[in-house]
Amino acid sequence: MIVCSCTRMTDQALADEVARILREDPQALITPGRVFHGLGERIQCGGCCRLIDMLIAADLRQRRAAADAPNDSAADLPMAAE
Ligand code: FES
Repeated sequence: MIVCSCTRMTDQALADEVARILREDPQALITPGRVFHGLGERIQCGGCCRLIDMLIAADLRQRRAAADAPNDSAADLPMAAE
């Protein structure tokens, strides 16, 4: 899906760039401008920035939830006899 009509940035390119930024710096502050810069683009009309900001926030929430999820492998272990 195209998320920026000026640059034709896709949601996949956005997600890939967010992942790349976080690999370089897990504590990075990710902004639409940083994503554009990383993709070699510049914000043009700015009409997509709110959407891109929301998509970045959703991506980060999803990553945090995955990192905080309990390890399911422990649930697969047989219970010790009491
Ligand atoms: S729609 Fe993204 S900069 Fe214009």
